[in-house]
Amino acid sequence: MVGQLGHPRAVTPELLTEADAGELLTVQRAAYLSEARAHLNFDLPPLVESLDQVRAALADPACRVWGVRDGGRLIASVRLRVAGAVGDIGRLAVAPDRQGAGLGSALLLAVEELAPAEITCFRLCTGERSAGPLHLYAKLGYRETHRSPEADYQLIHLEKPRGRAPTPIR
Ligand SMILES: CC(C)(COP(=O)(O)OP(=O)(O)OC[C@H]1O[C@@H](n2cnc3c(N)ncnc32)[C@H](O)[C@@H]1OP(=O)(O)O)[C@@H](O)C(=O)NCCC(=O)NCCS
Repeated sequence: MVGQLGHPRAVTPELLTEADAGELLTVQRAAYLSEARAHLNFDLPPLVESLDQVRAALADPACRVWGVRDGGRLIASVRLRVAGAVGDIGRLAVAPDRQGAGLGSALLLAVEELAPAEITCFRLCTGERSAGPLHLYAKLGYRETHRSPEADYQLIHLEKPRGRAPTPIR
């Protein structure tokens, strides 16, 4: 049982396989619609990714994809791409009807624990108008490293050394 942050919730993520591609794409597209609206960009990579591309990510040995199920239903997912000592985290998604209950935080913390031992640092990025995810990442110990332009907004890149304790902010 891993991935708690002052929430009563605990999650046990499972590694997803190509057989999960359809469900994964469904959760991803539903979740990222709010981000698309916030950035007035409906071509966000998680939204335009095809089923074949999702299958390819699931089959990629450098990429691990975890999911959380409730009664068989996939309700959350996240990807980790291993690049030497760096773990690139992406596509964190919680089904819209399950958001705001600690699941996203718990899954991210769980995956940090489950990541291969050679990873010493985690990286991720999000759009500058993603107030919710930015709050979540700061709370879990991620700090901004730099920004890069994307459409008419900035992408904020964040990093966390493995093992940094979450920050007790509200
Ligand atoms: C971002 C996301 C994964 C968070 O999952 P979640 O289960 O809803 O998040 P949690 O319940 O663990 O929230 C953790 C904290 O972040 C805040 N937060 C996270 N996402 C938020 C959002 N979209 N709006 C408002 N607050 C949000 C919560 O209020 C909470 O703060 P608190 O603990 O101080 O009260 C989920 O909202 C989602 O799938 N969003 C769409 C996809 C996305 O934005 N992915 C990340 C972009 S890189």
